[in-house]
Amino acid sequence: MTIAPHTLPPPPVENDVLPEPRPDTDFLARLALRRSTKVAHLAAPCPEGDTLDAILRIGARVPDHGKLGPWRFIILSGDNRQVYGTKIAELLSARGEVKDPERLALEEGRFLRAPLVVAVVFSPVESPKVPEWEQVLSAGAVCYNLLLAAQGFGYGGCWLSEWVAYDREALALLGLSPQEKLAGFVYLGTPTEAPLERPRPSAASRVTHWQP
Ligand SMILES: Cc1cc2nc3c(=O)[nH]c(=O)nc-3n(C[C@H](O)[C@H](O)[C@H](O)COP(=O)(O)O)c2cc1C
Repeated sequence: MTIAPHTLPPPPVENDVLPEPRPDTDFLARLALRRSTKVAHLAAPCPEGDTLDAILRIGARVPDHGKLGPWRFIILSGDNRQVYGTKIAELLSARGEVKDPERLALEEGRFLRAPLVVAVVFSPVESPKVPEWEQVLSAGAVCYNLLLAAQGFGYGGCWLSEWVAYDREALALLGLSPQEKLAGFVYLGTPTEAPLERPRPSAASRVTHWQP
C-alpha cells in the first residue's frame, strides 16, 4: 500500500488545536520493533516529490528549545550522489591519503549505496537562552524523526556518519560552513530484505530509581 502525502493533515498553524495523545497499538508496535535498514538493503524506489517533502516536514517536527530550528537538509539524489562521491575521492587522492584505486572507487560510490541521501546539517543558532548542546540534541531528533517518517511511508532508512561527517574539507564540498556540523547522512530507499533483530542494551539495565 502506498500512502499519498496529501492524506496527511496539512501543516498546522500557531494555536490550532492538535490531537491529544490516545492509545495506539500500531504506533507502539512500530516503535517496539523499529529497526534501521542496512544501506546494502536500500534500493529504488525512494521517496520523492510530495512524499519527500512530507518526510522532511515530519522530520523537522521535533522538540526544539526556543524554536530556533538549528538544522537544515541537503538532498543528495540522482547523479549528484556520484558527483559528490567523485569530489571526496579526489580530495583523498589529492591529499595523498588514499592511492588504492579500489578504495577510491568505493569513495566515488559511497553515496550511491542508496537511491537517496538526506544530509542533516546542524546549524547552531546564537542564543542567550538555549545552550548549543540542546540544539545538537534537537538536530539528532531530526535524524531519528526522518527515519520514522520514512518508515511510515513504507521506506527504510539508515543514519550514518562515517569519515565524511568529520572531515571539514569534505563537508565544505557539501556546502557546510565552518560553524556547521553534520548530524547525519540519512540514507533512504526501499528495503530489499526484512531486518533481523540485533543485540541491544535493555532499558532495564540502564534504569536506576533515584533515592535521597
Ligand atoms: C549519530 C549516529 C551515527 C551513526 N553512524 C554510523 C556509521 O557511520 N556506521 C554504522 O554502521 N552505523 C552508524 N550508526 C548506527 C546506525 O544508524 C543504526 O542505528 C545501527 O546500525 C543500529 O540499527 P537500529 O537503528 O536498527 O538499532 C550511527 C548512529 C548514530 C545515532
